[in-house]
Amino acid sequence: MSIATIILAAGKGTRMNSDLAKVLHPIANVPMLHHAMATAATLEPTLDIVVTGHQAEAVAAAARDFDADVQIANQQEQLGTGHAVQMAAPLLDGFEGRVVVLFGDTPFIQPETMQNLMAATSDITILAFDAADPGRYGRVVSNGDALERIVEWKDASPEERNITLCNSGVMCISSTLLNDLIFELSDTNDASEFYLTELPALARKNGYSAGVVLCDEAETLGVNTLAELSDAEQIWQGSRRRSLMEDGVYMQAPDTVQLAFDTEIGRGASVEPNVVFGLGVTVESDARIRAFSHLEGAHVSRGATVGPYARLRPGAELSEHVHVGNFVEIKNAVVAEGAKINHLSYIGDARIGSRTNVGAGTITCNYDGVMKHQTEIGADAFIGSNTMLVAPVTLGSGSMTGSGSVITSDVEPDALAISRAPQVEKPGMARKLLEMLRARKAQKDRSN
Ligand code: UD1
Ligand code: CA
Repeated sequence: MSIATIILAAGKGTRMNSDLAKVLHPIANVPMLHHAMATAATLEPTLDIVVTGHQAEAVAAAARDFDADVQIANQQEQLGTGHAVQMAAPLLDGFEGRVVVLFGDTPFIQPETMQNLMAATSDITILAFDAADPGRYGRVVSNGDALERIVEWKDASPEERNITLCNSGVMCISSTLLNDLIFELSDTNDASEFYLTELPALARKNGYSAGVVLCDEAETLGVNTLAELSDAEQIWQGSRRRSLMEDGVYMQAPDTVQLAFDTEIGRGASVEPNVVFGLGVTVESDARIRAFSHLEGAHVSRGATVGPYARLRPGAELSEHVHVGNFVEIKNAVVAEGAKINHLSYIGDARIGSRTNVGAGTITCNYDGVMKHQTEIGADAFIGSNTMLVAPVTLGSGSMTGSGSVITSDVEPDALAISRAPQVEKPGMARKLLEMLRARKAQKDRSN
């Protein structure tokens, strides 16, 4: 049966105390909204809808970043979760199947839980959890798997507030039921809002079946404050690290490693302490990312070594068995197999050939203040320490540069290029110079 998903993301998130809409706050370097969209995507819906309201354009743009085909429903005034689903209803015109509603600020619902929810056969099924501290969650009045109704905390009697079974907010609703009843919700409650949570009782009254599926409380964790955002980040990091370790990634001090939403690391790779991954990083098997390195938009091939203290920026492409050492920055550069850039270098907008050795302190001078230029170095070249490669410049295979050279024109294959002041030697001059300076200082000390 077809599935449509609706993610509610119109709310302001007042308690975040931030100018940024709540669902745009990042967890693992992507907007919180993407996490909910990723959960929804595991259902392979034929239609996915995001309901925007507060900062509607920015939220819609973030939604499209995740999925260009997402449908956006705008909820100008936030009159409640039921009202939000009403705003999405026109987009469901002609859709037949099941409609799953999720919240944009609830990033941890697991794919298995979504499958459990889809396995339920009632016309409307809610996802609930047993809360250690039920606080202000909506309470679930049920009889085994059969759901009677949800009562919001504000409207609940003292006895109902004693119920620990709480509503997560996730619901699966048949399109027939939704079309039939979504506009029948009332706003006669303490908040004068159209509650989606009124729908199960309304459904039962109209002869539909209503059910409950349970999940772990941890999955339903919502983000309402910046402190909860950082908790959510920690939870996400912890679970992603564990799953990487299960996949065969070595981590000595996993708690110090920061991963991003899309970080991919192959089996047998190792990640030393205090490594930070930004978005877009793939590390292949048996690569080694050493301590305190920072990677973003980079690809590290099998058997390569990065760091300690290295920085890979977007477009860094390291082939197999490349060595990138300490205090090396690489940006938009392809480094071919077995090449070494081991110390204190900046390589940007470049191609470095196979087995080429780039000496300590080498810099590609890629920026002239207006434009960026390319540096090309062939295979088996030897770049002397502290070479300045003033781009655009091409150095042939097997070429060499003398240490300290400033290379401004192309170098032929197998040629040695040296560009620096020739060395002059003045015998005894060092001693004479020191004596002169010491005498000068003594005279100054006497006159003070
Ligand atoms: C909701 C549930 C409650 C449940 C709790 C779980 C209702 C009425 N209550 O309460 O039973 O225990 O979540 O966290 O559904 N939103 C809109 N438009 C609106 C209102 C809300 O898009 O007009 C979005 C919000 O951005 C948010 C989500 O819906 O992502 C939930 O809204 P929120 O106001 O946080 O509901 P709760 O009071 O937490
Ligand atoms: Ca909430």
